[in-house]
Amino acid sequence: MNQSGDYIGVFDSGLGGISVLRELQKLMPQERFLYYGDSANAPYGTRSTDCVRQLTLNAAEKIIAQGIKALVIACNTATAAAITLLREKYPELIVIGIEPALKPAADLFPKGRIGVMATEVTLREEKFDTLLHRFDADATILKISAPGVVELVEAGKGDSSEMKELLSQLLAPYSGKLDALVLGCTHYPLVRSAIGEILGSSVTLLDGGEGTARETLRRLTQAGLLHCGPGEIRWENSTGSEEMLALSKRLLNQQ
Ligand code: DGL
Repeated sequence: MNQSGDYIGVFDSGLGGISVLRELQKLMPQERFLYYGDSANAPYGTRSTDCVRQLTLNAAEKIIAQGIKALVIACNTATAAAITLLREKYPELIVIGIEPALKPAADLFPKGRIGVMATEVTLREEKFDTLLHRFDADATILKISAPGVVELVEAGKGDSSEMKELLSQLLAPYSGKLDALVLGCTHYPLVRSAIGEILGSSVTLLDGGEGTARETLRRLTQAGLLHCGPGEIRWENSTGSEEMLALSKRLLNQQ
């Protein structure tokens, strides 16, 4: 492995961060990415905050040891629980964390009805409360937890009837009640079309992937750390399983 710190590390509890990797690669095709999914420990979103912190720090250590110039936390749950700690521990490193795209939703619908679908950890963390209170004076914001969705994506069942049934059940109470739905977990954009079919075209779906990619480009440009190509993706998964790597590549290329 290249030790010169040429890679951009991209981390998620599992395969969800691939939705962010897509945006990063679209914006910076000339970059080298090291994608690390901690699928052996997914889901993070139902764990204690301390546990998510520890798992995130462990994974970050493994990624950083390989020589990276920036670390993208492509996991809303890990950002909510551990981004402050990571920045304290690695003050020299560019560390970017994804957050639910509540601001873009509130900009589009300032007095609207906005759902935020995210993991239990994200929705209960103080970081999210702070974000919510920036916008809830005008907009009506509904917290929607979605147990089971991450597990099905990890099992390669993103496109299954099981997934469609689960999403229909979870979203049924919000039918006709939302202007926008924020996909506040990086696994959810991987099932965006199923969510869109259930809610209908009148509901705008938003996620933080593109904003995170733009912020990464901005920080790398500012630091003079952009790579001139050729681009590359290096895949790692804590399960060590070849099937997981094959599924990762399929998800990256899926429309
Ligand atoms: N993909 C992660 C996120 O963005 C969470 C998935 C999990 O629960 O592990 O929040």
